[in-house]
Amino acid sequence: MKKILVTGSNGLLGQKLTDAARKDLELEYIASSRGDNRYATDEGYRYIPLDITDHHQVTSMITTLQPDVIINTAAMANVDACEKDPEGSYTLNVAAIANLISTCEAYPIHLIHLSTDFVFDGEDGPYKEEDKPKPLSTYGRHKVEAEKLLQQSTCHWSVVRTILVYGIVQDMSRSNIVLWAKNALENRQEISVVNDQWRMPTLAEDLAIACITIAKKGEKGIFHIAGKDLLSIDEMVEAVAAYYHLDESFISKISSADLKQDALRPKRTGFVLDKAYKTLHYAPHSFEEGIKLMDLQLKEIMNQK
Ligand SMILES: NC(=O)c1ccc[n+]([C@@H]2O[C@H](COP(=O)([O-])OP(=O)(O)OC[C@H]3O[C@@H](n4cnc5c(N)ncnc54)[C@H](OP(=O)(O)O)[C@@H]3O)[C@@H](O)[C@H]2O)c1
Repeated sequence: MKKILVTGSNGLLGQKLTDAARKDLELEYIASSRGDNRYATDEGYRYIPLDITDHHQVTSMITTLQPDVIINTAAMANVDACEKDPEGSYTLNVAAIANLISTCEAYPIHLIHLSTDFVFDGEDGPYKEEDKPKPLSTYGRHKVEAEKLLQQSTCHWSVVRTILVYGIVQDMSRSNIVLWAKNALENRQEISVVNDQWRMPTLAEDLAIACITIAKKGEKGIFHIAGKDLLSIDEMVEAVAAYYHLDESFISKISSADLKQDALRPKRTGFVLDKAYKTLHYAPHSFEEGIKLMDLQLKEIMNQK
């Protein structure tokens, strides 16, 4: 039985990993995040508070628990926040990973680290695992730095790059494209949506299953994990509006230049998923299927309240 420790377990991916791993009889599962546990139940796993920027805490916890695998989902993942606070981004997205790596090297522990399509500049998407990174933002540069540290280490490492993750969990750290569009249009708010950026939106459940498969199989190297549809952001918002029969006249389509965000975004990313299909038997949902699943989960959460 493999013992898996997840960091950042209060986040979207973290909670989906808890959903899957705590019921998996082949795994002993330990969740960790900064502060109190925000997952709905404490059945089937242990929770331990862990701030991954606290080097002493990380080292002593790993030494005590001696997991076989660590899945590091904790990150500063808001791209504009990283642009405005590069030091904060470096601390969480690079320095904390360096410490995790050196502790994992000592045992040895399989370290699975989450990365992003923002390592690419978006001029040649969809991208393969071996394509050369060319980040446009602080977030992207720091994710590349962390990837390089893993590649140069003697650690048993995997990097899971993913794209625009969406899903619903309790007490979320931040919103995502589906929830944002649904809430805004339900409240009849005018929203400006870019029509010159393309992504392959990823259902959080699909990403969690891919990470657990990598952990169980001990697969090494870089993996591209995303949804199967390449869509522009305005197409995603229109799909949400269509599913919920919301008024699309509140959607204004604009260019990225007009949106004036702090960080530059790649134009067209997307991933070639062949390695994931072949090695992990990865079977992602379509965006439409993902919205439908999220809708069912949202209704369940509302019923529990
Ligand atoms: N979401 C996306 O669209 C996307 C796209 C590409 C790549 N990724 C990558 O995928 C990974 C998971 O993303 P996600 O969407 O699940 O992110 P998320 O929802 O923001 O979750 C991150 C979690 O990490 C926790 N955390 C923050 N600082 C921490 C620290 N110092 N120590 C321990 N935990 C800490 C956060 O705690 P609080 O809840 O207390 O803030 C949060 O619960 C990240 O590496 C991200 O860069 C995400």
